[in-house]
Amino acid sequence: MTSQQFSIHQQSKLDNALVEQLLDRAFGLDRRTKSSYRLREGQTAVDGLSFIARNSAGSIIGTISFWNIHLGQEGTKAILLGPLAVEPDQQATGVGLALMRHGITAAKQASHKLVILIGDAPYYAKVGFKQVPLNTLQMPGANDPKRLLYLELEKGAFITPNGTEPSGLIRSPSRWDARP
Ligand SMILES: CC(C)(COP(=O)(O)OP(=O)(O)OC[C@H]1O[C@@H](n2cnc3c(N)ncnc32)[C@H](O)[C@@H]1OP(=O)(O)O)[C@@H](O)C(=O)NCCC(=O)NCCS
Repeated sequence: MTSQQFSIHQQSKLDNALVEQLLDRAFGLDRRTKSSYRLREGQTAVDGLSFIARNSAGSIIGTISFWNIHLGQEGTKAILLGPLAVEPDQQATGVGLALMRHGITAAKQASHKLVILIGDAPYYAKVGFKQVPLNTLQMPGANDPKRLLYLELEKGAFITPNGTEPSGLIRSPSRWDARP
């Protein structure tokens, strides 16, 4: 597909219903069974880090958001990227990568240090994501550990103060606060 004209904007509450419909079309109606959704339950997306792409007609054709999470036993703070989605008939025109680059730049400007996601490594490697070493961090639920990826927004942010990689479960802020 050829490249197209689009622009990226902060997502507003007025966009929410259309974004949910776009997510249903891009991921399918069973999308809420994915493990990323376990981390988003009862949370709101990080303020100021939800963006949409609009085509030249003004229609929403892409979306990205980020969520606060805590990593492993140490509780290292990070943000979870996703969902990232592009309208099925507008995919492969550069919208996804543009949304991701925009979101990552905004996250860096807001002083976030580390991004985590579950996704296809070859795609996310295009913006610098690397695979989380196996047998370290775990997402809740069943998922392929090779799809767990990270991106340091500040050099060394993935390494804990002990000099090791974080290990254990990835939790939402509410579950981290409620830990035994
Ligand atoms: C995945 C998704 C967000 C990508 O957005 P997009 O706008 O279609 O992708 P872009 O146009 O920005 O990027 C295109 C490039 O990425 C590559 N690419 C796209 N999806 C890929 C994948 N899953 N694995 C590897 N490469 C991929 C394309 O081959 C293309 O490479 P090229 O530039 O070298 O030709 C989009 O296809 C989508 O919404 N898919 C359904 C929902 C989904 O799976 N979201 C991601 C959850 S992990």
